[in-house]
Amino acid sequence: MITVRGGKPLRGELTVQSAKNSVLPVLAATVISGDACVIEHCPRLEDVDASAAILRHLGCDVRWQGDDLLVDSSTMSRWDIPDDMMRRMRSSVIFLGAIISRCGQARLSYPGGCELGPRPIDLHLSALRTLGAQIDEQGACLDCRQGAAMRGAEIVLSLPSVGATENAMLAACTARGTTVISNAAREPEIVDLQRFLRKIGAEVRGAGSSTVIVEGRRKFHGCRHRCIGDRIAAATYLSCAAATGGEVMVRGVDYRHLSTVTMALQQAGCQIHSGEQGIYLRAPAVLQGICPIRTAPYPGFPTDAQAVVMASLLRAKGSTMFVENMFQSRYRHVAQLLRLGADIRLEGRVAVVCGVEKLRGGTVYCTDLRGGAALAVAALQTEEETQIRQIRHIQRGYEDFSGTLRHLGAQIQEIGV
Ligand code: EPZ
Repeated sequence: MITVRGGKPLRGELTVQSAKNSVLPVLAATVISGDACVIEHCPRLEDVDASAAILRHLGCDVRWQGDDLLVDSSTMSRWDIPDDMMRRMRSSVIFLGAIISRCGQARLSYPGGCELGPRPIDLHLSALRTLGAQIDEQGACLDCRQGAAMRGAEIVLSLPSVGATENAMLAACTARGTTVISNAAREPEIVDLQRFLRKIGAEVRGAGSSTVIVEGRRKFHGCRHRCIGDRIAAATYLSCAAATGGEVMVRGVDYRHLSTVTMALQQAGCQIHSGEQGIYLRAPAVLQGICPIRTAPYPGFPTDAQAVVMASLLRAKGSTMFVENMFQSRYRHVAQLLRLGADIRLEGRVAVVCGVEKLRGGTVYCTDLRGGAALAVAALQTEEETQIRQIRHIQRGYEDFSGTLRHLGAQIQEIGV
């Protein structure tokens, strides 16, 4: 758990970690290279450890070299992911496309739901079936074959799913002929995955637009790759500064990747200067409520930033409405924020935050990765002590979360329980 005693402005500068949601699909894609790949400046996250465990299980050599993670998949010898490994990290389904591309077959179990509600993978499976993969679902087990017979095809995603787009790109890398993925997700992490795939010899283009085109290849090789900065981690630390009347400089992220978040914080009264050198934010003592925030696929307002921006507005003058359109239950942090004195009204996908004068300390529990970070954003706004428990959720996606906040002047301690 972590204990926080807030009430002071956060000040200073930080360089944000590499993007978790880039590193995870890139680690899966190393399986396709069949060679040694170096992921430079790889963040030390629980989800990276979970991916490394899967890669080692598959027979790859995975080892840290300072801040770089080396993955040599030339020694890959298996194509199955055990159930316990699938459960440890929901996004392990991203290995499906990579394994079937490399081995022609794959066996893994349903990743199951997570804290955000059911996490269906119907779009992933229909994309791979469109390429010709044969996928038998026996209970919770997915048995995928005929990967070697996959042919390029037109895949139309009924919604721009990030994971389904990535799985389709990975499977299409070795499907003979041309694959066109329409209504593809446009997240920057997908562009980053395309950058990595082109480095190992795949022929992929169009990422970042709604149409991604892949020409099947058979021969791949290793590469060195440094992923983009984590736009959600950046949004989190900016929210911490905004929430405490602070002043920060966040480096190592492309400001264009979180312009909907910086726009919201600007509307709330923060001074923001974005440029090649990073994002500078200076917050007023009290924020203003802003017009409704509706989460949407990129380049819309990111669902992953909803909780932390909500938490930054808990003491704002006026109220702000949030509409969560991406996940069924992504308001589980609200009950915890209410325990700290917040005034939030929930009605289905809509949450209305009414600013309060003061928040109070207390004991709260992380419900999911970003909801957990939001509890810290709230705790930083009161001088009373807050205990935040089950921080393993936060450790899944934030590298040295409490150390980073301490570096900005926060009074925060991590205590093993
Ligand atoms: C990715 O999850 C991210 N995870 C999530 O970040 C992020 O919240 C999400 O994209 C949306 O931006 C990683 O990249 C590892 P989706 P993903 O498929 O790929 C439905 C975090 O906090 N859907 O775009 O699972 C789905 O239920 C995590 O870092 C289907 O119905 O998201 C959801 O409602 C949390 N069928 C919506 O689409 C499918 O086959 C968007 O999901 C797939 C998805």
